[in-house]
Amino acid sequence: MNKLAVRDVPDPRLRNEQDIVVKVRKTVTCGSDLHLIGGYIPFMSRGDVLGHEFVGEVVEVGAQVRKHKVGDRVVVSSFISCGKCWYCSQQLYSLCDNGNTNPAITEALWGFSPGGCFGYSHAMGGFAGSHAEYIRVPYGDVGAFTIPDEVDDLRALFASDSAATGWMGADLGGVRPGDVVAIWGAGAVGQMAARASVLLGAERVLIIDRYDNRLDQAAKFAGAEPLNYLRDDTGSALLEATGGRGPDVCIEAVGMEAHTPGPQQAYDKVKQQLRLQTDRPAAVRDAIYQARKGGSVFVLGVYAGFVDKFPLGAMMNKGLTVRGAQMHGQRYIPMLLERMARGELVTEHLATHVMPLDRGPEGYRMFKDKEDGCVRAVFEP
Ligand SMILES: NC(=O)c1ccc[n+]([C@@H]2O[C@H](COP(=O)([O-])OP(=O)(O)OC[C@H]3O[C@@H](n4cnc5c(N)ncnc54)[C@H](O)[C@@H]3O)[C@@H](O)[C@H]2O)c1
Ligand SMILES: [Zn+2]
Ligand SMILES: [Zn+2]
Repeated sequence: MNKLAVRDVPDPRLRNEQDIVVKVRKTVTCGSDLHLIGGYIPFMSRGDVLGHEFVGEVVEVGAQVRKHKVGDRVVVSSFISCGKCWYCSQQLYSLCDNGNTNPAITEALWGFSPGGCFGYSHAMGGFAGSHAEYIRVPYGDVGAFTIPDEVDDLRALFASDSAATGWMGADLGGVRPGDVVAIWGAGAVGQMAARASVLLGAERVLIIDRYDNRLDQAAKFAGAEPLNYLRDDTGSALLEATGGRGPDVCIEAVGMEAHTPGPQQAYDKVKQQLRLQTDRPAAVRDAIYQARKGGSVFVLGVYAGFVDKFPLGAMMNKGLTVRGAQMHGQRYIPMLLERMARGELVTEHLATHVMPLDRGPEGYRMFKDKEDGCVRAVFEP
């Protein structure tokens, strides 16, 4: 685990006329941070500030900011988007052409660069993150949203990233009324994808993990049916739930550090550590294998590069639609806040541990090791 420490850093200032500066009230860990801390995305430098999900109060606004004023209580999208380029005009905000001010690394890796992200390495723009007292938010009118009075900070916090990500998986995965949806991973992202699937009308939503406390939350707060892959025969359960056809939509919310029982885990881990493959795609393989013919697979889990044993044959011969994306927060956050205000979408149970920012390294350790049932550690600067 790369070294984490709490240090004094210079306060951010307005740099562009569209910037705002936010005093952070709450900020939270994300599964994506684990890939940085684990060294799987090797573009962090000493002294970089982590964190991309936060709520706070606007304390400074640039000359061109129209939507916000000092004192507004806002939640901010983890992805930074200009709101004006071709991708933003298609609502594909995480693909913004201007959000990532350091596109060279990802252009070399992937052909084109996605947008920027707070606290997510120099490959994603090198922006300072939200695990701090203050943060500079570029394109403040595009990425920050005023929180309705009915929604408290803790509930709104998750609109920043996990809830928007989960919603995107269900929406762009094509969940329709009557569908059976299977979700891999019952972290905050998987749980939010489960809730979104239910709200979009799925008839049954099954969620797979090995941690019962996470599965219990998914059952209680999302209305999903839990499957523990250490105990249950998940393949048979998915067939049974679909009359032998397989799930219509499979959503992968696990990512590049996936765990697999049995020898495949050792094989993938050794290959990943020797850099023969960058990612461990166990849950993606499963999702592609289990999906019904003509079904869809949406990859929400973060992957950095190349994988081994990708089931291209199953994907092609079963006629699957396989998609993935970083989240288009700006597209979903206003709707999510409305649903939060109506009580349709609750998130505060995800904040199993709330602590002062001084205890950040301890919070990350608990989150990484899932100690004491930690689902998310929330920090208050
Ligand atoms: N696309 C996006 O914009 C976006 C945004 C946020 C997070 N993410 C990614 O989504 C993924 C999940 O995020 P999170 O914060 O919920 O992470 P998390 O680490 O809290 O949860 C991941 C869960 O996956 C489970 N898991 C591991 N291997 C599994 C397997 N083989 N089958 C089923 N479950 C398995 C773990 O037990 C864990 O509960 C991460 O990869 C994260 O980087 C993507
Ligand atoms: Zn995140
Ligand atoms: Zn843009």
